[in-house]
Amino acid sequence: MVSNQEERLREAEPAQEPDEKRATLKICQDHGSRPDNLIEVLHAVQARDGYLSDDSLRDIAACLNLTRAEVHGVASFYHDFRRIPPGKTVVKICLAEACQALGCDALKEHAEEVLSTDMGATSSDGEVSLEPVYCLGNCALGPAVMFNGDLYGRVTPEKLDSLVSGADI
Ligand code: FES
Repeated sequence: MVSNQEERLREAEPAQEPDEKRATLKICQDHGSRPDNLIEVLHAVQARDGYLSDDSLRDIAACLNLTRAEVHGVASFYHDFRRIPPGKTVVKICLAEACQALGCDALKEHAEEVLSTDMGATSSDGEVSLEPVYCLGNCALGPAVMFNGDLYGRVTPEKLDSLVSGADI
């Protein structure tokens, strides 16, 4: 028997591969197919794909019985959600207040220069994404950086350089 979510998902414009679509439906079902779990669903889909494609947003809207505009609005509002595929290496620099007091602005400028990309963008060769975050819960040890998912504190430009060279960017 075909569930209502499956029916709605099937009606959504075909775009994703069937396996991806099925996986999206499964994620929605794992979250009770409840619209109020939208943020958790978006996180789970991003964890799977690395970003939120238009196709995924369309399928999520169909699964959760939300409009595409509602889903798109939430995905665009939160800094944590990525709308384009990330680079192979993802560098997040905290730009919140405590880290500002400890020099994150200079670190951001240094990162943009050595990584050859602007904050909030991915280098043209697709190697690295530089992303802003607003508190990593490491305020006493700022500037704080998340480098490929690992948290670092008191990151100086020199320390960033060694992280970059270790990642062979
Ligand atoms: S303000 Fe940067 S980690 Fe909290």
